[in-house]
Amino acid sequence: MSPIPNLEGYGVFVDDIDFNHLTRDQWMSLGKLQMEQLVMIIRRTGININRFHQVMKMWGKCRQNYAAKEETDTEVAKEYARIGGHAATGHIVRVAEENGLFGSGDLLWHSNESGDIAFTPGVALLGDHGMTKSATGFMVTSPYYYSLSESMRSELDEMVLVHNFQEGKINANDENNVVYKNMCPEPDTEIPLVIQSPAGIKGLHFPYNTTTRIKDYPIEESVRLLEEIKFKLTQYYYDYWWENDDDLLIFDNSIVQHRRLGDTTDRLCYRYQFDYSYLQYKVTGKPYMPYFQEPYISRYKEKMGEISKVFPVFGYPPP
Ligand SMILES: [Fe+2]
Repeated sequence: MSPIPNLEGYGVFVDDIDFNHLTRDQWMSLGKLQMEQLVMIIRRTGININRFHQVMKMWGKCRQNYAAKEETDTEVAKEYARIGGHAATGHIVRVAEENGLFGSGDLLWHSNESGDIAFTPGVALLGDHGMTKSATGFMVTSPYYYSLSESMRSELDEMVLVHNFQEGKINANDENNVVYKNMCPEPDTEIPLVIQSPAGIKGLHFPYNTTTRIKDYPIEESVRLLEEIKFKLTQYYYDYWWENDDDLLIFDNSIVQHRRLGDTTDRLCYRYQFDYSYLQYKVTGKPYMPYFQEPYISRYKEKMGEISKVFPVFGYPPP
């Protein structure tokens, strides 16, 4: 294992894992490590999509919030099926130009389901082919948060961001229905800026794709402050240029943003978006709660109660 540059202790490379002889305990320890490190890059896994599904579901079930909705829009359902998502595939979707999510080209900094108060907290990407001309980048926010004075931190702790879907904020080439429904289903969704990751690491939930302003701030002040934070965050990112087609990238989706760079021609990877149900108790001893303040705690519980009817998550609905 070795640290990922620039991420200030929140990223780890893992090499020489033998997936054929990996015990359950070893794999669960890696899961705990991934939760504590936020970003994990396992190089040369030698695994295929089936093994990928098998190992990921030991950490937690694959989850897709909009697929948990009772009334699904036919257009969205069609789009979801086109990219490979359904119960039979365990909701693993293809990320590719052809019949995949997101189309071609660069993807700007974002997080998934970012404007959804009950966003899914983990994402895993397994390469299949054509990966090595492209990069997946990660930006961590905790080092910035902890670099601030205590008074500045408590100021940020009070802030709430207002989220909206914004066209072209992830991929200017191709926005589709699935992305729309995923990123911010309700207009003007309020989510606290400072939250905690599943392992209890504090950081910023400041996804550039859906953030529109700071709640109750004059607009000029809101723009100025958000630009300043963005500028500071640019110190803490790393673009991983895929070294092998079978690399496996597993990353936090609560306080870490990701992006894509490079050539996406004939590129295919698989995405497993998940919660940490089977690790959560081992790491924190309680269900995941991203928020520290009301009414967001209650809103989260309420929404997770609904989601859990379709995608069961540890601790929800609360007993
Ligand atoms: Fe993404």
